[in-house]
Amino acid sequence: MSHAPQPLGAPAVRREGRAKVTGTARYAAERGLPGCLYAWVVPATVPAGRVTAVRTVDALAQPGVHSVLTHDNAPRLHEPDDPILAVLQDDRVPHRGWPVALVVADSLASARAGAEALHITYETTEHDVVLTEDHAGLYTPEEANGGYPAVRERGDFDRAFAESPVRVDVTYTLEPLHNHPMEPHASTARWSPEGHLTVYDSSQGATKVRDSLAAAFGIGTDKVTAVSEHVGGGFGSKGTPRPQAVLAAMAALHTGRPVELALARRQMPALVGHRAPTVQRVRLGAGPDGTLTSVAQEIITHTSTIKEFVEQAAVPARVMYGSPHSRTTHRVAALNVPSPSWMRAPGEAPGMYALESAMDELAAELSLDPVELRLRNDPADEPDSGKPFSSRGLAACLREGAERFGWQDRDPAPGIRREGALLLGTGVASATYPVYASPGHASAHAAPDGTYRIAINATDIGTGARTVLAQIAADVLGAPLDDVAIDIGDSDLPDASLAGGSSGTASWGWAVHKAASGLAERLAAHTGPLPDAGVTVTADTTEETAEKSPYARHAFGAHFAEVAVDTRTGEVRMRRMLGVFAAGRILNSRTGRSQFIGGMTMGIGMALTEGSTLDPVFGDFVESDLASYHVPVCADVAAIEAHWIDEDDPHLNPMGSKGIGEIGIVGAAAAVGNAFRHATGVRLRTLPLTPDRVLTHLA
Ligand code: MOS
Repeated sequence: MSHAPQPLGAPAVRREGRAKVTGTARYAAERGLPGCLYAWVVPATVPAGRVTAVRTVDALAQPGVHSVLTHDNAPRLHEPDDPILAVLQDDRVPHRGWPVALVVADSLASARAGAEALHITYETTEHDVVLTEDHAGLYTPEEANGGYPAVRERGDFDRAFAESPVRVDVTYTLEPLHNHPMEPHASTARWSPEGHLTVYDSSQGATKVRDSLAAAFGIGTDKVTAVSEHVGGGFGSKGTPRPQAVLAAMAALHTGRPVELALARRQMPALVGHRAPTVQRVRLGAGPDGTLTSVAQEIITHTSTIKEFVEQAAVPARVMYGSPHSRTTHRVAALNVPSPSWMRAPGEAPGMYALESAMDELAAELSLDPVELRLRNDPADEPDSGKPFSSRGLAACLREGAERFGWQDRDPAPGIRREGALLLGTGVASATYPVYASPGHASAHAAPDGTYRIAINATDIGTGARTVLAQIAADVLGAPLDDVAIDIGDSDLPDASLAGGSSGTASWGWAVHKAASGLAERLAAHTGPLPDAGVTVTADTTEETAEKSPYARHAFGAHFAEVAVDTRTGEVRMRRMLGVFAAGRILNSRTGRSQFIGGMTMGIGMALTEGSTLDPVFGDFVESDLASYHVPVCADVAAIEAHWIDEDDPHLNPMGSKGIGEIGIVGAAAAVGNAFRHATGVRLRTLPLTPDRVLTHLA
């Protein structure tokens, strides 16, 4: 690598890439601690009720089995900060798959054999896992996720909609979805003789894991170290701590030995969260020229009986298009389902599927080009708050995307492009994602040999966080990138926020920028050689990140998709997909492109193959392995391109960056669904567009 300083934005390669591809990067369940035991979670086999008895004698008689933890003998927890972490504390079964026992053995095989030999009896109660539009349990919560008000009304929606000359009134239904990162949720826990807990956890934020474990075990945060050095994906399911970390720490406490616990793939659907299903009614009223007069998006979703989780799917409608009259609402029902949780662009991904599909339906009603419809409704200020946008690149993304994709030549007539038995079509949809930043701490050290070391408890879940943070520091210090080392992924480093809300680079980068700037100042003022210990500067961005902005700050984007629909088999294949994003300054073009393309790929999965079915009798998800839950593979994503528009937005952070981890998925499924409609003339208002559904509707 060159020793000249590289500009911020350069395609620096991932620092840990070599360690990962050569297998030397160690993940949470690869620590190889001496004397380590292995734990296996025993999930409830009933969807609601309580455990009446656990007979452990046969399990304990299995060779190698060390202990069986149940609610009778497991360590008592103090105050877990999330009810999903209160495992093995009582006999209640809130949903199928809830942990009711943990078998600990000297090998994984023995632990599984022990689990097979457990006899558990239950008292079952009625259960209900089916969300319907008229479910008696539906209520309006105080807030939807993210602290957004559940209900917002502007103007007089009902009257404006009734008086609109052109209207669409459509309902979209989305099944639950699962994150399924390649690395399952896993932890290795160890207690020192002095009572210090160390947990290697596959997580998106080790500071949060440390804090949650300290709360659960009733000890100081200085008595816990959480390490998330390498993480094989998360997508939100590892955003907040998961039960495996608590269970591994309990088992280690109970046995006095290190304990490793990796969830099996089939245990993940019930234990690590899912994107909640939504039923979304969207009503759009417009004038004959396509100017929106009224927008309503009303969400129904589910949560579990142990926590309120409200997918904020109507929130993007408060940002996207101007209209004087608007209603955006959320209602939720608590069912006997596993607790839903975060999944890439929670709120935006499902909400924009519905809104952007409805915009396509409106364009068809108006006989107006769907790009043009969006351009005509691009507001000057954020519709719901009235705040000016710090920058809003939607129109630029739509125009550049249309140009690159060749949208100009598109014949809007549906169902007429044939290639043998295939029907071809193209579709467009917009994307948006909010700009967040959290407080962080970082240190920057200069050594006498001219090298630097940055420390911050950031997490790299495959995004390139390590690399881009080093780039930010190198840029501030005017140093070659190779001269800047970085330590992340350990809660003994300066505290930082988790990798979530597409805020990692903004939050951690801000702290790193501040520490490096402070160090640069110190060095500039220094004369003579540095002391042997070097010079260290620390930074805390609590104040600057807490400042309320007078601006509405969001990233925007536009997706263009082309599909081929096989009229014999019902298979929908992607021909090509192109996204253009306006997300501030892109700080690493290589890893940035990868984030966009990754999000778009997940959107293709959402559109075509991914879906989780709650079995009403069984009470849990049917798709519990990667043979039945189909994530896209390379062969499904033939031609995919991501481009961006460089924005110079001074209202964000010192780097001028917006988040890029999530916006790639937002609107992607709508673009594919809109392309499907253009190909076939048939509008399906549910996903995924699997062959069975497609054939039923084409017939
Ligand atoms: Mo993401 S779902 O904010 O980890």
